[in-house]
Amino acid sequence: MKLPSKVKLVDVGPRDGLQNEKGAVPAAVKIELVHRLQDAGLTEIEVTSFVSPKWVPQMADAAEVMAGIQRKPGVRYSVLTPNMKGFEAAVLSKPDEIVVFAAASEAFSQRNINCSIAESIERFRPVVEAARASNIHVRGAISCAVGCPYEGEVAPERVELVARLLKGIGVQHMGVADTIGVGTPVKVQRAMEAALQHYALDHVSGHFHDTYGQALANTLVCLEMGVWQFDTSSAGLGGCPYAKGATGNVATEDVVYLLHGMGIETGIDLDKLIDAGKFISDFLERKPNSRAATALLNKRAD
Ligand code: HMG
Ligand code: MG
Repeated sequence: MKLPSKVKLVDVGPRDGLQNEKGAVPAAVKIELVHRLQDAGLTEIEVTSFVSPKWVPQMADAAEVMAGIQRKPGVRYSVLTPNMKGFEAAVLSKPDEIVVFAAASEAFSQRNINCSIAESIERFRPVVEAARASNIHVRGAISCAVGCPYEGEVAPERVELVARLLKGIGVQHMGVADTIGVGTPVKVQRAMEAALQHYALDHVSGHFHDTYGQALANTLVCLEMGVWQFDTSSAGLGGCPYAKGATGNVATEDVVYLLHGMGIETGIDLDKLIDAGKFISDFLERKPNSRAATALLNKRAD
């Protein structure tokens, strides 16, 4: 076991979480959530995505949200960009990092971004080039790294292939995503090992949706491999509009509770984080989807 002593969490709630909400969430609420997350100590926040508003109307206010954030020094603000059109719009709002998102399954690639895996790489190529020329960090994501809603189980060789292709076009970091939360620790470990064939330990992260309640176990197995970066979502918000039935990412609160309990630093103030999750959950008129937040909120109420 080579547990890291520090972990960086990327809160993807404002993007991965809110992209899946049926009701409209005003830009001001999204901005307030970002402010609360940075106040809680998050040093990277995935704010929004510059995708087609016909495909994901929830993210149509991407530029407005980016413009409204009062940036805190030391915080990295990232946005999703599926193509040059998205990148050209995104760059005006000065993101610190962009995310290109591929899939390990052909069917998911078609449903999510309307092209094959090979075509997606060709679309990303000029995006990555332009971003790197502007000194914008480029993160990649591989969706369906263990399972696909359309194709079922996904072999680690698929992840290895897509990681190789993304590395080949200059993507600097690789997120291994269990889009529909079907993964269990050994499968997730194999998917992560596949990504590690092309990316160093310092350049991989885990992105686990918690549909089957496995995300904390999947996080732990990656920690034991030395992985120290994870995407999580405050209040467990979210899901993907092109992965029906999939629930949100593992709650940031639950992962922080796990890490602090193991003596691993995050720089995050759990109380403030719980307040941030409560803020957005109150707006959405539901309870935070986090066991740790629920327990600690109950304790506060006593
Ligand atoms: P398309 O329809 O094939 O695109 O969509 P197109 O190039 O043929 O253009 C069609 C229209 O869209 C045109 O407008 C373009 O201008 C416009 P029209 O002439 O008809 O008025 N358009 C755009 N508008 C704004 N921003 C853009 C853009 N691009 C084209 N960037 C496209 C292809 C990729 C655009 C579309 O499929 C799309 O937007 N997909 C995004 C889907 C998405 O956001 N999914 C969720 C995020 S991924 C995720 O959640 C997974 C992740 O969390 C990891 C995990 O858990 O797996 C990251
Ligand atoms: Mg996701």
